[in-house]
Amino acid sequence: MRLGLIGLGRIGAFHAETLSNLDAVETLVVADAVPAATASVAEKFGAEPADSPEALIASGVDGVVIAAATAAHAPLLRAAVDAGIPAFCEKPLSAVLADAVSVAQHVEDSGVAVQVGYPRRFDPAYLAAYDARVAGDLGWVHTVRSTTLDPAPAPRGYIETSGGIFRDCSVHDFDTVRWITGQEPVEVYATGHAHGDPMFAEFGDVATAQTLITFADGSTGVVSNTRYNPRGYDVRLEVHGTGDSVAAGWSDQAPLRNLEPGSTWPSAQPWGFFMDRLTDAFRAELTAFTELVSGARTESPCTVQDALAVAWMAEAADLSLKEHRPVTIDEVK
Ligand SMILES: NC(=O)c1ccc[n+]([C@@H]2O[C@H](COP(=O)([O-])OP(=O)(O)OC[C@H]3O[C@@H](n4cnc5c(N)ncnc54)[C@H](O)[C@@H]3O)[C@@H](O)[C@H]2O)c1
Repeated sequence: MRLGLIGLGRIGAFHAETLSNLDAVETLVVADAVPAATASVAEKFGAEPADSPEALIASGVDGVVIAAATAAHAPLLRAAVDAGIPAFCEKPLSAVLADAVSVAQHVEDSGVAVQVGYPRRFDPAYLAAYDARVAGDLGWVHTVRSTTLDPAPAPRGYIETSGGIFRDCSVHDFDTVRWITGQEPVEVYATGHAHGDPMFAEFGDVATAQTLITFADGSTGVVSNTRYNPRGYDVRLEVHGTGDSVAAGWSDQAPLRNLEPGSTWPSAQPWGFFMDRLTDAFRAELTAFTELVSGARTESPCTVQDALAVAWMAEAADLSLKEHRPVTIDEVK
């Protein structure tokens, strides 16, 4: 197939490498707002450069991967579905919730297949935890813990336009806990602080946050995030039920110093960043998108409604942090 890729920054250049190695992708067409980025990625991965996102969409692509900066997601998603082209869109749909609601409605009205980028849904251990819950092996799931600890803050320009830690980082955990438990969240309580680079306080953001979630069936979730975890990129999950307890991300590369006497775990080089921690998940995620484009897969593995549910959680967490009180999802809706 002929696949487009728009946005060639940190994640876009990484996706270019993955996509150029997928058997299903015969031609990769790339475009970035910065022409030098387009030229360099096209040359590096043998891709076809397009002069602009509009030119790429008009160039007869079968599907398009949108990995541009967050502010460009909604307009590019609209342009893709208006042209009848299936799209993969990196999270979030938009940093502005009203915009996310409106673009999600636009996608639904178009009937065009769209997959939103939440790669943990494709991590083998996360998938096994999901399967165990669906199979009933865990009994009634009363507690889910999801953790994302970044080694260091992203550049200032990224943080400034990210929409804050809940919309940028915690959303991965919010999607995970909702997907893994199969439960809708009803209330969140978030706390955090801006310790670290002064830019966090300047942008009204925090560098570390914890979010407590109550689900519709009364079960509970705990989400932990920070921009400062110099030991490595820590992405982990624990699911505890009345039948069993399971975990994901507790590999030999977990970025933790285990102080149990005599234990040599974990012994390998810790995960450095999302590129090495989630390489296989990203490949599986983009493979799923090519299946959606070819028709081999009929249902999006992560819909705009899933992304919207997560956006409501982020909105509630943000309000909870600011007002220092529990906030229901209904209230922000
Ligand atoms: N799913 C994940 O795990 C994951 C990981 C990292 C980033 N992301 C998301 O991916 C997006 C990009 O993140 P990043 O870290 O690569 O950012 P980045 O700043 O490194 O790159 C963004 C790129 O988009 C380009 N761009 C901006 N507006 C554009 C437009 N209108 N048309 C074409 N190109 C445009 C910029 O020139 C830049 O090259 C963000 O929305 C982020 O939330 C997702």
